[in-house]
Amino acid sequence: MKGKMKTSNLVDSSGQLSPTCSLFDRRTFLKSMGIAVPALGLIGCSTTRRASQAMEVMPDNVPGFEKEVATAATYEGWVPVSDRKIKFGIIGQGASRFGSAFGFQDHPNVEIVAVSDLIPERRDDLAKACRCSKTYDSLELLLEDNEIEAVWIATDAPSHKDHTIKALKRGKHVACAVPAIFGSVDDAYELYEAVNASDRIYMMFETSMFHEDLWAMRQIYKAGGFGEIIYSENSYYHYTGQKLTPSYKEWRKGLPPIWYPTHATAYYVGVTDGYFTEVSCRGVKSIIEHSMPQNNRYKNPFRTHVAQLVTNTGGVNNTVISWDSYGFGREGGTVRGQFGSYQGSYQGTMENLPNVTRPALPEGLSAGGHGGSHGRLTDEFVRAILEERKPLVDIAMALNMTVPGAVAHQSALRNGKILKVPHFKSR
Ligand SMILES: NC(=O)c1ccc[n+]([C@@H]2O[C@H](COP(=O)([O-])OP(=O)(O)OC[C@H]3O[C@@H](n4cnc5c(N)ncnc54)[C@H](O)[C@@H]3O)[C@@H](O)[C@H]2O)c1
Repeated sequence: MKGKMKTSNLVDSSGQLSPTCSLFDRRTFLKSMGIAVPALGLIGCSTTRRASQAMEVMPDNVPGFEKEVATAATYEGWVPVSDRKIKFGIIGQGASRFGSAFGFQDHPNVEIVAVSDLIPERRDDLAKACRCSKTYDSLELLLEDNEIEAVWIATDAPSHKDHTIKALKRGKHVACAVPAIFGSVDDAYELYEAVNASDRIYMMFETSMFHEDLWAMRQIYKAGGFGEIIYSENSYYHYTGQKLTPSYKEWRKGLPPIWYPTHATAYYVGVTDGYFTEVSCRGVKSIIEHSMPQNNRYKNPFRTHVAQLVTNTGGVNNTVISWDSYGFGREGGTVRGQFGSYQGSYQGTMENLPNVTRPALPEGLSAGGHGGSHGRLTDEFVRAILEERKPLVDIAMALNMTVPGAVAHQSALRNGKILKVPHFKSR
């Protein structure tokens, strides 16, 4: 999937960053925690810088992008819910080419009605990959199309909250790439209310959820094979070096790593359906140029965060996001419970483990990248719409994975001050 598009023009339509890149947590929440709300304003959130003219794509060796090689077993036992084809719009074919990477165009219950990217070359690439002739110049225009029932939003992370809310307000079911929100607890509350006020389905596409080990841990946890989790540790290691990872309006430049925590936090929240209550986090000052505070719009000095979190059952979790330590990429985690632990495999008191095989896929839908997560996330979202049920990663789980990172960065900026983490309930 990677490296297919080499060069063409990238046009920055407005030069403005999304207003969603507010650096601030919910003021009331912070004040209630006795934390002064800094008068920083939206530093760096407004920029007139024009984006690069080169249309860049991710390098070929991004950790986690590995595809699962499907076997006959991958497709064995998939049972259709109905013959209905849901009418989809697909938005965003950026550096990760994520619009087409999750196989919506190959799902038997999906018809792609239209696609969109702001950049014409990307829009064309997406249309071709989705075998769809109808295109719109922007998400906003695509959402006006009343034929479209559901959307897959793979736009830049700072826009996820706004794009999701716009789509819900236009009556579309929404699948959105991670993270659900971008560093702001205020935005988390706004998104939570918007999803709950809507009768549409929202799912965040956290790719760790269908990693083979996380899926197994989740089934074993539900069956009681761990008891309560006493200690868990998870990490997202991804060395990027001095080179800037391509992104729309350079949102990745100097990004606080723990604002992007879900590939790691999924290894507790996605296993247990639990949440975190407190965090103390340390950041490591980076020698990577763009992760020096004077060189990025976030004023962020860190490219490694080490957070210690308290869980909803009183356990302790360590979450590490490190993008400037070299070697051994990882999006993973381990759990240690009262009756068993999981570290690559299960060791514990449960003798008859539950079935830990991941869900089967419909013929023609590739399991795809992130260790076979892509196709399974797509199938889960489609089935949730058809079955009119809560999807695997609903708004509560999405925020319980994402928001701890926003608070953790605030803690790191205060040398590890212990802060409360708000949590969200499924309604
Ligand atoms: N493992 C994972 O889950 C994983 C891995 C990589 C990327 N991601 C997420 O996927 C998303 C896409 O990643 P990327 O690297 O392609 O990002 P990117 O910044 O390179 O591309 C974003 C694209 O969205 C388009 N866009 C923005 N606003 C739009 C609008 N209003 N209408 C139409 N198009 C619009 C831009 O033109 C751009 O092409 C990001 O949010 C990222 O966080 C997740």
